[in-house]
Amino acid sequence: ADRLARPVIAKTAELQLNGRLRHVIFSGQFSAATLDDLAETANQIRVLSKHRAGQDFLRNLLSHRRAMLYFTQPSTRTFLSFMAACQILGLTCNEVRDPQTSSETKGETRFDSIRMFSSYFDLIIMRSPIARLAESCAYLMNDLSVHGQRSVPIINAGSGADEHPTQALLDVYTLQRTFAREEPADTPLGASPGFRPGVAFGSASNGLAGKTYGFCGDIGRGRTVRSLAMLLAEYPGNRLVFVTPDHDKLRMRDDLRRRLADRNVTVLEVDSLEAQIDGVPAIEAFDALYMTRVQKEHDTPEDAESFAAIDYSAYRLTPALVARMKAHAPILHPFPRDQHFGEIPPEIDADPRAMYFRQARNGMWIRAALLAHVLDADGAIARHFHHT
Ligand code: CP
Repeated sequence: ADRLARPVIAKTAELQLNGRLRHVIFSGQFSAATLDDLAETANQIRVLSKHRAGQDFLRNLLSHRRAMLYFTQPSTRTFLSFMAACQILGLTCNEVRDPQTSSETKGETRFDSIRMFSSYFDLIIMRSPIARLAESCAYLMNDLSVHGQRSVPIINAGSGADEHPTQALLDVYTLQRTFAREEPADTPLGASPGFRPGVAFGSASNGLAGKTYGFCGDIGRGRTVRSLAMLLAEYPGNRLVFVTPDHDKLRMRDDLRRRLADRNVTVLEVDSLEAQIDGVPAIEAFDALYMTRVQKEHDTPEDAESFAAIDYSAYRLTPALVARMKAHAPILHPFPRDQHFGEIPPEIDADPRAMYFRQARNGMWIRAALLAHVLDADGAIARHFHHT
């Protein structure tokens, strides 16, 4: 608890080693240049994975390293895509998902658990319901390092309602690939050479600038939106439109509003996909739309009355709304979607703009690229890619 009381790591430098990412804790650590590097490595890995020789090369790359997946909050995509990413690169991985199976039930602290993991593994990937726990563990590792003790990188795979930086990485990677595919090479904002399947495409993230991004649903309690909004604020000329019920718990939190205000990004907050933006309904203005689930698991009994008054139909996508979106505007969702709430009904899945299943698969490639970066194997991948 005392470690959680420490101030937020203010300096990205504390999360780096020799100019490279060491711990991955929040999305604000990533510059546009680093995002491009990761996307390029991810593209190289996915191309090499298409043939046996490439798979064998990748599998030998980190076969001497071990990763711990410490997930004490439910997960399908993040857990499995990190596990698959480890397998692609040959890392051995092990897991603790249920604290009841660990000695935390005997009174051991999480920090002692983490320190034990660092004794046996070379990297700890962690998800926790506790905001900033991953950050505190990064502090712990830095303290150990200062005292000449064993210390390993920490990767935040989702921490409470505050950050989910690797989800933001895969969201940006999906947007890069989508926009690079749709925009002609000479478009003023999309300086990429155009996406060709399986071909690395350089600084495609330029295509993320100058756009209108819609975020719809439960913004206040959604860590994925918080992390992605900070990454999109890295690109000039962007406009972020938050579509949420007018409710304290669901609207954007003040700290994110403040952080975005410090960036060169326009922020609009509206209460419906039909709200007017520059004279057109929001749904028709978006260059990309990021839907989210209402996170009922965070509801308290006191919320029930005020939430009952909300008309949630304004936060559900329908085929009729999709028909009014821009022709190439991708629809994203971090998933899981809620079959009972129905923010994206399955009828929309066949629409070419529906990116959410690709998004989930992209998570495996970009997480493999991130592991390669943190464990200093991305240079070897690039050399192999360019010489085969
Ligand atoms: N998007 C996401 O984090 O999914 P999981 O909770 O299934 O990992």
